[in-house]
Amino acid sequence: MSEGTATKKYIIFMAHKGGVGKSTMSKQFSRELHRLGKIIEGQDYDPQQHFARFMEINSYLFTEQEDAEYVIVDTQGAHTQTNVDIMQGMQHEDALFVVLFRPTEDDYKETLIIRDRLKAQGVLDKALFVVNGCYRENDKDVKEFKERLGDTVKVAQSVFVQRKNYAKEPDSKVRGEISRFLHEAVL
Ligand SMILES: Nc1ncnc2c1ncn2[C@@H]1O[C@H](COP(=O)(O)OP(=O)(O)O)[C@@H](O)[C@H]1O
Ligand SMILES: [Mg+2]
Repeated sequence: MSEGTATKKYIIFMAHKGGVGKSTMSKQFSRELHRLGKIIEGQDYDPQQHFARFMEINSYLFTEQEDAEYVIVDTQGAHTQTNVDIMQGMQHEDALFVVLFRPTEDDYKETLIIRDRLKAQGVLDKALFVVNGCYRENDKDVKEFKERLGDTVKVAQSVFVQRKNYAKEPDSKVRGEISRFLHEAVL
Protein backbone atom coordinates (compact mmCIF):
# COMPACT_ATOMS: atom_id res chain seq x y z
CA MET A 1 0.00 0.00 0.00
CA SER A 2 1.21 3.54 -0.54
CA GLU A 3 2.16 5.70 2.42
CA GLY A 4 -0.92 7.23 3.98
CA THR A 5 -1.07 10.92 4.75
CA ALA A 6 -3.13 12.17 7.68
CA THR A 7 -6.17 13.00 5.59
CA LYS A 8 -6.43 9.94 3.37
CA LYS A 9 -9.30 7.57 3.89
CA TYR A 10 -9.15 4.08 2.41
CA ILE A 11 -12.29 2.33 1.19
CA ILE A 12 -11.46 -1.32 0.65
CA PHE A 13 -13.81 -3.78 -0.99
CA MET A 14 -13.14 -7.21 0.39
CA ALA A 15 -15.05 -10.47 0.36
CA HIS A 16 -14.63 -14.18 0.80
CA LYS A 17 -15.33 -14.79 -2.88
CA GLY A 18 -15.76 -13.25 -6.31
CA GLY A 19 -19.00 -12.14 -7.88
CA VAL A 20 -20.38 -10.10 -4.99
CA GLY A 21 -19.78 -6.73 -6.66
CA LYS A 22 -16.40 -5.53 -5.40
CA SER A 23 -15.13 -4.31 -8.77
CA THR A 24 -18.51 -2.91 -9.77
CA MET A 25 -18.72 -0.90 -6.56
CA SER A 26 -15.09 0.20 -6.83
CA LYS A 27 -16.04 1.78 -10.16
CA GLN A 28 -19.34 3.30 -9.04
CA PHE A 29 -17.88 4.65 -5.81
CA SER A 30 -15.08 6.27 -7.80
CA ARG A 31 -17.60 7.94 -10.10
CA GLU A 32 -19.79 9.13 -7.26
CA LEU A 33 -16.97 10.45 -5.08
CA HIS A 34 -15.59 12.28 -8.11
CA ARG A 35 -19.03 13.71 -8.81
CA LEU A 36 -19.12 14.95 -5.22
CA GLY A 37 -15.89 16.80 -5.90
CA LYS A 38 -13.57 14.51 -3.94
CA ILE A 39 -9.97 13.80 -4.90
CA ILE A 40 -9.57 10.07 -5.32
CA GLU A 41 -6.98 7.43 -6.05
CA GLY A 42 -7.58 3.83 -7.07
CA GLN A 43 -5.66 0.65 -6.27
CA ASP A 44 -6.38 -2.79 -7.67
CA TYR A 45 -4.95 -5.89 -5.97
CA ASP A 46 -6.99 -8.39 -7.99
CA PRO A 47 -4.92 -10.17 -10.67
CA GLN A 48 -7.99 -9.93 -12.94
CA GLN A 49 -7.40 -6.15 -12.98
CA HIS A 50 -11.01 -5.16 -13.78
CA PHE A 51 -10.80 -2.00 -11.71
CA ALA A 52 -7.30 -1.22 -13.02
CA ARG A 53 -8.64 -1.28 -16.58
CA PHE A 54 -11.48 1.02 -15.57
CA MET A 55 -8.90 3.38 -14.02
CA GLU A 56 -6.95 3.46 -17.27
CA ILE A 57 -10.02 4.25 -19.36
CA ASN A 58 -11.42 6.76 -16.85
CA SER A 59 -8.17 8.32 -15.72
CA TYR A 60 -9.85 11.73 -15.39
CA LEU A 61 -11.57 10.43 -12.22
CA PHE A 62 -8.29 9.74 -10.45
CA THR A 63 -5.52 11.97 -9.20
CA GLU A 64 -1.90 11.20 -10.03
CA GLN A 65 -0.52 13.41 -7.26
CA GLU A 66 -0.17 12.44 -3.62
CA ASP A 67 -3.21 14.53 -2.74
CA ALA A 68 -6.02 11.94 -2.66
CA GLU A 69 -8.67 12.32 0.02
CA TYR A 70 -10.07 8.86 -0.67
CA VAL A 71 -8.35 5.72 -1.88
CA ILE A 72 -10.64 3.11 -3.44
CA VAL A 73 -9.13 -0.38 -3.18
CA ASP A 74 -10.37 -3.44 -5.08
CA THR A 75 -9.21 -6.88 -3.96
CA GLN A 76 -9.31 -10.49 -5.01
CA GLY A 77 -12.15 -12.65 -3.71
CA ALA A 78 -9.90 -15.27 -2.16
CA HIS A 79 -7.88 -15.81 0.97
CA THR A 80 -4.53 -14.62 -0.30
CA GLN A 81 -1.43 -13.33 1.46
CA THR A 82 -2.03 -10.03 -0.34
CA ASN A 83 -5.40 -9.67 1.37
CA VAL A 84 -3.84 -10.47 4.74
CA ASP A 85 -1.15 -7.84 4.04
CA ILE A 86 -3.83 -5.29 3.12
CA MET A 87 -5.70 -5.97 6.37
CA GLN A 88 -2.52 -5.64 8.41
CA GLY A 89 -1.48 -2.51 6.52
CA MET A 90 -4.77 -0.85 7.43
CA GLN A 91 -4.52 -1.40 11.18
CA HIS A 92 -3.37 2.17 11.82
CA GLU A 93 -4.94 3.89 8.83
CA ASP A 94 -8.26 5.64 8.44
CA ALA A 95 -9.85 2.74 6.61
CA LEU A 96 -13.25 1.27 5.90
CA PHE A 97 -13.54 -2.34 4.75
CA VAL A 98 -16.76 -2.68 2.78
CA VAL A 99 -17.93 -6.30 2.76
CA LEU A 100 -20.68 -6.87 0.23
CA PHE A 101 -23.01 -9.80 0.61
CA ARG A 102 -26.19 -11.05 -0.96
CA PRO A 103 -29.07 -11.84 1.38
CA THR A 104 -28.86 -15.62 1.07
CA GLU A 105 -27.98 -18.39 3.51
CA ASP A 106 -24.80 -19.25 1.58
CA ASP A 107 -23.54 -15.68 1.58
CA TYR A 108 -24.40 -15.34 5.25
CA LYS A 109 -22.11 -18.28 6.10
CA GLU A 110 -19.33 -16.98 3.87
CA THR A 111 -19.63 -13.57 5.41
CA LEU A 112 -18.82 -15.07 8.80
CA ILE A 113 -15.56 -16.38 7.35
CA ILE A 114 -14.42 -12.95 6.20
CA ARG A 115 -15.56 -11.56 9.55
CA ASP A 116 -13.18 -13.97 11.32
CA ARG A 117 -10.29 -13.05 9.01
CA LEU A 118 -10.81 -9.34 9.58
CA LYS A 119 -10.98 -10.02 13.30
CA ALA A 120 -7.78 -12.08 13.26
CA GLN A 121 -5.93 -9.10 11.71
CA GLY A 122 -7.42 -6.62 14.17
CA VAL A 123 -9.47 -4.64 11.67
CA LEU A 124 -13.01 -5.89 12.23
CA ASP A 125 -13.92 -2.57 13.88
CA LYS A 126 -13.10 -0.91 10.55
CA ALA A 127 -15.49 -3.15 8.61
CA LEU A 128 -19.01 -2.45 7.46
CA PHE A 129 -21.13 -5.17 5.89
CA VAL A 130 -23.65 -4.17 3.24
CA VAL A 131 -26.28 -5.99 1.24
CA ASN A 132 -25.73 -5.94 -2.52
CA GLY A 133 -27.97 -7.34 -5.21
CA CYS A 134 -31.25 -7.67 -3.35
CA TYR A 135 -34.46 -7.40 -5.35
CA ARG A 136 -36.01 -4.76 -3.16
CA GLU A 137 -34.72 -2.73 -0.28
CA ASN A 138 -37.57 -3.75 2.01
CA ASP A 139 -37.71 -7.48 1.36
CA LYS A 140 -38.18 -9.76 4.33
CA ASP A 141 -34.91 -11.55 3.54
CA VAL A 142 -32.96 -8.32 3.48
CA LYS A 143 -34.29 -7.38 6.90
CA GLU A 144 -33.64 -10.88 8.28
CA PHE A 145 -30.04 -11.16 7.10
CA LYS A 146 -29.23 -7.60 8.16
CA GLU A 147 -30.52 -8.40 11.64
CA ARG A 148 -28.70 -11.72 11.92
CA LEU A 149 -25.39 -10.29 10.77
CA GLY A 150 -25.97 -7.18 12.84
CA ASP A 151 -25.64 -9.31 15.97
CA THR A 152 -21.98 -9.95 15.18
CA VAL A 153 -20.70 -7.15 12.88
CA LYS A 154 -21.60 -3.60 11.83
CA VAL A 155 -24.19 -3.68 9.05
CA ALA A 156 -25.07 -0.68 6.89
CA GLN A 157 -28.65 0.53 6.84
CA SER A 158 -28.21 1.33 3.15
CA VAL A 159 -28.43 -1.49 0.64
CA PHE A 160 -27.61 -1.84 -3.04
CA VAL A 161 -30.49 -3.18 -5.09
CA GLN A 162 -30.00 -5.45 -8.11
CA ARG A 163 -30.21 -2.99 -11.01
CA LYS A 164 -29.41 -3.09 -14.70
CA ASN A 165 -27.38 0.10 -14.63
CA TYR A 166 -24.70 -1.16 -12.31
CA ALA A 167 -22.72 -2.51 -15.22
CA LYS A 168 -22.39 0.83 -16.99
CA GLU A 169 -22.88 4.56 -16.37
CA PRO A 170 -25.06 4.86 -13.29
CA ASP A 171 -28.56 6.25 -13.55
CA SER A 172 -30.11 8.46 -10.88
CA LYS A 173 -31.29 5.50 -8.80
CA VAL A 174 -27.82 3.95 -8.68
CA ARG A 175 -26.25 7.32 -7.90
CA GLY A 176 -28.80 7.87 -5.16
CA GLU A 177 -28.04 4.54 -3.51
CA ILE A 178 -24.29 5.01 -3.61
CA SER A 179 -24.63 8.54 -2.36
CA ARG A 180 -26.82 7.39 0.52
CA PHE A 181 -24.23 4.79 1.53
CA LEU A 182 -21.40 7.32 1.28
CA HIS A 183 -23.28 9.75 3.52
CA GLU A 184 -24.05 6.98 6.00
CA ALA A 185 -20.59 5.47 6.19
CA VAL A 186 -17.86 7.55 4.56
CA LEU A 187 -18.38 11.31 4.28
N1 LIG B 1 -26.26 -4.18 -7.49
C1 LIG B 1 -26.04 -4.83 -8.64
N2 LIG B 1 -26.99 -4.87 -9.59
C2 LIG B 1 -26.79 -5.53 -10.75
N3 LIG B 1 -25.66 -6.18 -11.07
C3 LIG B 1 -24.66 -6.17 -10.14
C4 LIG B 1 -24.78 -5.50 -8.90
N4 LIG B 1 -23.61 -5.67 -8.23
C5 LIG B 1 -22.81 -6.42 -9.02
N5 LIG B 1 -23.44 -6.73 -10.17
C6 LIG B 1 -22.94 -7.56 -11.28
O1 LIG B 1 -22.43 -8.76 -10.71
C7 LIG B 1 -21.32 -9.24 -11.47
C8 LIG B 1 -20.13 -9.47 -10.56
O2 LIG B 1 -19.70 -8.25 -10.04
P1 LIG B 1 -18.16 -7.90 -9.82
O3 LIG B 1 -18.12 -6.49 -9.40
O4 LIG B 1 -17.34 -8.33 -10.98
O5 LIG B 1 -17.85 -8.84 -8.56
P2 LIG B 1 -16.45 -9.11 -7.83
O6 LIG B 1 -15.53 -8.00 -8.17
O7 LIG B 1 -16.81 -9.17 -6.38
O8 LIG B 1 -15.98 -10.44 -8.35
C9 LIG B 1 -21.07 -8.21 -12.53
O9 LIG B 1 -21.65 -8.65 -13.74
C10 LIG B 1 -21.77 -6.96 -12.02
O10 LIG B 1 -22.21 -6.11 -13.07
MG1 LIG C 1 -13.64 -8.15 -9.06
